[in-house]
Amino acid sequence: MQNKTCKLSGPGGAVSELPLREGTLGPATLDIAALYKDQGIFTFDPGFVSTASCESKITYIDGERGVLLYRGYPIEQLAEKSSFLEVACLLLYGELPTKPQLDGFTDSIRRHSMVNEAVLRFFSGFHYDAHPMAMMTAVVGSLSAFYHDSTDIHNARHREIFAHRIIAKLPTLAAAVYRHSTGQPFMYPRNDLGYCANFLHMLFAVPAEPYHVNPVAAKALDLLFLLHADHEQNASTSTVRLAGSSGTNPYAAIAAGIACLWGPAHGGANEAVLNMLREIGDVKNIAKAIAKAKDKDSGFRLMGFGHRVYKNYDPRAKIIRATCHEVLEKLGRGDDPQLELAMRLEEIALKDEYFIEKKLYPNVDFYSGIIYRALGIPLHMMTVMFAVARTVGWVAHWQEMIADPHMKIGRPRQLYTGATQRDFVVIETRK
Ligand code: CMC
Repeated sequence: MQNKTCKLSGPGGAVSELPLREGTLGPATLDIAALYKDQGIFTFDPGFVSTASCESKITYIDGERGVLLYRGYPIEQLAEKSSFLEVACLLLYGELPTKPQLDGFTDSIRRHSMVNEAVLRFFSGFHYDAHPMAMMTAVVGSLSAFYHDSTDIHNARHREIFAHRIIAKLPTLAAAVYRHSTGQPFMYPRNDLGYCANFLHMLFAVPAEPYHVNPVAAKALDLLFLLHADHEQNASTSTVRLAGSSGTNPYAAIAAGIACLWGPAHGGANEAVLNMLREIGDVKNIAKAIAKAKDKDSGFRLMGFGHRVYKNYDPRAKIIRATCHEVLEKLGRGDDPQLELAMRLEEIALKDEYFIEKKLYPNVDFYSGIIYRALGIPLHMMTVMFAVARTVGWVAHWQEMIADPHMKIGRPRQLYTGATQRDFVVIETRK
């Protein structure tokens, strides 16, 4: 959709008429693609603060109002009425599936959940104390050495098989990562269980005795996965798009996304929140922690607070906060002192002038770690859980990009501030 233009007078005096493109929602976007050709200048926007890197129909966020839509459906409605695999179908195919479509998708995911035995042997190369995200990045990248029958990215059916395979195999690999770090045997997937119940089985069952998946735990996990499934052009999704734009093997592109997600400013925040709560330790230390977060020289930030896009309460955090008490209660952990501490910390921060002025609110990771811990997920596995859920979004975006006939390799420009051209000096005469 294109209806308006913006006039820009360049440094040489020439005037460009730049198209102002209107999406279906959100601010208009100035199309600057012809700027360099017309005016010989680039634009500068480190961190993509005002730059749309692509056009997309998948997810919409209104950060000022705290709105999140997957394919137009509000996250609150999906959280209440849908399930992770149904949402995966929605994100991948664009529409809510009919019952036969969802059954077919679920069955396909179930039947692709095993990984080649050779992949499991890779784990023996990792020390037991390797960070799970290091192992995840490596083993998911190593999937690119398999499945050559279905990685022609220009073939729509190949792309679909890839999408189903990666969504199906991520829990198996994530569970294998955990089992390797605990020295326990890998558990094979069980096709009689749902996606999240099967994941819990692979994480926690042992061959020596039967394991009964707690339906409350499986449901809570499903909700967390649904809420983390996509978040438009976040850092890891943009990484997957950029890596994928070169036409690389899709498993390698997803591994790049996992590597990006690991950082504490992104998916590593859920782990960082629990570390922070442990360090704060008690309600009486909250004031000190808040003061430290406000002190730029301390290098400390309130983890789980603030967001590039949300300048309001993250709607996902609102849902997790509301279900946190209920889930913990049902799992017999209703008196979790870290939940009490987190709620007090939130209350105090939200009344603080610094957080009000900078519009810093709890984000999705502020409460998710508390539920994950109640499900028995150890601290160092938390970002892996995020990766399993976000794989759906990564794949949906990769698909959307590759299927676009106008796709170009992503190749940003730069503002060069280094040395100007100079002549080489032989080592003997250098000072
Ligand atoms: N604690 C204290 N001050 C903060 C915080 C925080 N958590 N977040 C931002 N600020 C301040 C920051 O110092 C800056 O102040 P000033 O304008 O005076 O320089 C201002 O708020 C804006 O921050 P920014 O770093 O310029 O904002 P950004 O959009 O680049 O960063 C963020 C967003 C999420 C990286 C940042 O808010 C942050 O580091 N939060 C803590 C980490 C976290 O919870 N990350 C999870 C994000 S949600 C899950 C996901 O998408 O992965």
